[in-house]
Amino acid sequence: MNTIERLEHLKKLRADAQLGGGQKRIDKQHALGRLTARERIGMLLDPGSFEEFDMFKTHRCTDFGMEKQKYPGDGVVTGHGTIDGRIVYVFAQDFTVLGGSLSETFAEKICKVMDLAMKNGAPVIGLNDSGGARIQEGIESLAGYTDIFLRNVMASGVIPQLSAIFGPCAGGAVYSPALTDFVVMVKNNSYMFLTGPKVVKSVTHEDVTVEELGGADMHASRSGVSDYAAQSGVDAIAYLRKLISFLPQNNMENPPSCSCSDPIDRRAEELNNIIPENPNEAYDMKAIIHRTVDNGDFFEIKEAFAPNLIVGFARYNGMSVGIVANQPSHYSGVLDIDSSIKGARFVRFCDCFNIPVVTFVDVPGFLPGTAQEYGGVIRNGAKILYAYAEATIPKVTVITRKAYGGAYCVMSSKHLRGDINYAWPTAEIAVMGAKGAVPILYGRQAKKEADPEAFLQDREKEYQDTVANPYVAAQRGYIDDIIEPARTRTRIVRALSLVQNKRDTNPMKKHGNIPL
Ligand code: HXC
Repeated sequence: MNTIERLEHLKKLRADAQLGGGQKRIDKQHALGRLTARERIGMLLDPGSFEEFDMFKTHRCTDFGMEKQKYPGDGVVTGHGTIDGRIVYVFAQDFTVLGGSLSETFAEKICKVMDLAMKNGAPVIGLNDSGGARIQEGIESLAGYTDIFLRNVMASGVIPQLSAIFGPCAGGAVYSPALTDFVVMVKNNSYMFLTGPKVVKSVTHEDVTVEELGGADMHASRSGVSDYAAQSGVDAIAYLRKLISFLPQNNMENPPSCSCSDPIDRRAEELNNIIPENPNEAYDMKAIIHRTVDNGDFFEIKEAFAPNLIVGFARYNGMSVGIVANQPSHYSGVLDIDSSIKGARFVRFCDCFNIPVVTFVDVPGFLPGTAQEYGGVIRNGAKILYAYAEATIPKVTVITRKAYGGAYCVMSSKHLRGDINYAWPTAEIAVMGAKGAVPILYGRQAKKEADPEAFLQDREKEYQDTVANPYVAAQRGYIDDIIEPARTRTRIVRALSLVQNKRDTNPMKKHGNIPL
């Protein structure tokens, strides 16, 4: 072949490889409302930025007639490209090739991009759509999975790892996405479970559909495995692109900051009246978040899971921050097992990647009851405490209303190395609320009074005025200042700029032993 012919030959090989398992299977994928691996990569990355590795790699299996079933690339498209000009490494499982099943060589391709991402300090994004271990290969594919798991663990806290699930993800294959930092699923089109409905039926006699057992809504709201249930594949990809805009490339970098068009001295007058007169009345903490962050843009994570605690990303004066906030409009913003786990994982992610955390507090305490105690609220509640305590990132806290009991301690208090701690004049910082405290303190005395009810009401007011306010904590220096709610944005921006070069360390150790 001369040079021209060689070029033509290469073009043809590339065009063939682009077809994956063939047009018929691509059509089937489209008919299911799913994109192909290459279409997903095309949407995820900046136009024209994708560079592929190992396009011609094929499997080495000779059993079950596999010599005749060779597809260039072997069912996974790997390489790198950019998102908003920043490098990311990607792999996309191609369901059109042997159901996207994972072979030895398939795993080698994924390991290659993971190794490069680690070496070069850039995020890895995995687009999953696979029937699991390639049955024809057996142990080689299991070994391949485990090689990936090891890399997921080694990369944890070094580079951001993001996963999207677009189709099946079953068996042990679920553990690679589970080891990554964020998991996005697509409603009605993707599922994750260890064992499918048939096995469940035979072992536990439960009748359950694929969607009920491992669909996107279930994982986003009940198990907490997924961070977002996307409406479509396109929506999932848009979510990944936005998510990555808040993150640094690796643990040695600061998160990206951008220019800010929202004035830092913008007042939000409505915040002066947002807290209801009745301490038991709910309000929406998200309204406070939206009114203080740049341009009202708050990117929520795990919105449907444990909604009594809000977590997500936003920017203050262009600087990326993590937000953690109790949500009084869901179970009064109480802390429970799920919300503690959700908060702990998020704070630890931010700490890994130098993202400051701003915490808004309105929490009546930990949820009482047998369900919580039997479920280990002690062990699980300790997770969020542990996460805030070990975090060395800048931590800014605003108490808007209740900060009662253990929940006061846990929610980024001064005592857990909170850097700047503010309270609104409406804050109530105490061991417990007046309704709980007064019967304990005055119950016996009330029985001797002519009008016990009126007596207890008077004591409640007294307790509210003397104990459940921000001034006692401010007198001790546990609160740095009591601020006007309308100026919360300005005060947070200034606090963050004050602590942006913070240096804090933990004692040398192999690793801590967070209560798991
Ligand atoms: C080899 C596979 C495959 C697999 C699917 N295919 N899964 N080939 N190994 N694991 C092939 C099919 O033969 C078929 O080939 C093509 O992919 C599409 O599959 P269909 O069954 O036609 O598609 P669909 O009806 O959409 O069903 C998808 C599916 C089903 C639900 C994923 O294929 C399935 O149940 N597959 C097996 C799942 C499984 O048990 N995997 C192992 C899990 S255990 P043709 O040529 O007809 O197009 C595991 C262990 C990991 O993963 C452990 C890690 C530690």
